[in-house]
Amino acid sequence: MRIGSVLLSLLLLGGCAQVRSVPAGENRPGPAAQHPRFGTPRRFDADLLRWRLAGAQRGVPGPRLPAIPPPRRVDCRTHKCVALTFDDGPAEYTGHVLDLLAAHHARATFFLLGQMITNETRDFVWRMAAEGHEIGNHSWDHASLAGLSPDALRHELDRTQDAVRKVTGVRMRLMRPPYGATNQTVDNETKQTGLAQILWAVDTLDWLNRNPTVIAQRSAAAKPGDIVLMHDIHPTTVQALPRLLDELDHKGFTYVTVSELLGDTAPGKKYTNK
Ligand code: NI
Repeated sequence: MRIGSVLLSLLLLGGCAQVRSVPAGENRPGPAAQHPRFGTPRRFDADLLRWRLAGAQRGVPGPRLPAIPPPRRVDCRTHKCVALTFDDGPAEYTGHVLDLLAAHHARATFFLLGQMITNETRDFVWRMAAEGHEIGNHSWDHASLAGLSPDALRHELDRTQDAVRKVTGVRMRLMRPPYGATNQTVDNETKQTGLAQILWAVDTLDWLNRNPTVIAQRSAAAKPGDIVLMHDIHPTTVQALPRLLDELDHKGFTYVTVSELLGDTAPGKKYTNK
């Protein structure tokens, strides 16, 4: 990983903090025709989830939640498959992303930061699972894993595995190293944790260029079998989604999760596309 990339990536974290402090009204896209006004995102039945989690903590089984749909069998040799991926959430725009994906019957993959899973965002995590999206591990706090000791690295992964399992019951099988920074230690620890390392073929640079048109163009340039990197923490990425989904629809793409794209993955191994 080049030093420049690391520095640019550190800007991403700064951007993340900035975005979260923007007043809600300013996050709404403008009235331009190609940017629909997003209403209040549909939330999973937060009360039901809260009740169930509270019951689980007391050892009392709560009400049944909807079943999580299994991965579909999609033959990506005969379908034009693309795996859209969203990193660094769950956050305040994640519900909008889920609404837009649902409108296009699109499944995607979310690489979550454990520390972002809060009382405010955990129903989005449940919605991801319940709506057939895949959830992957993006570390606890976006640490550059390649700079950590094996113990610290394992802690980053395990805490996030636990946080997602607590909300959804899902044991994640994929991870994405923050900044794409990986090395032999990351290879070893992800292998032992049972996580394949998922990189990307198309980088939209949506954290750097906060321009929905540019983000949509870059995503729509995906080739069949590509994994596309985006971040659901940026409002401009959400604004880009209707257009990029329309363009990929027009090109005949099928939206698949990373595991639907790759099939069986080997823990520790790195993947960028099919
Ligand atoms: Ni990230």
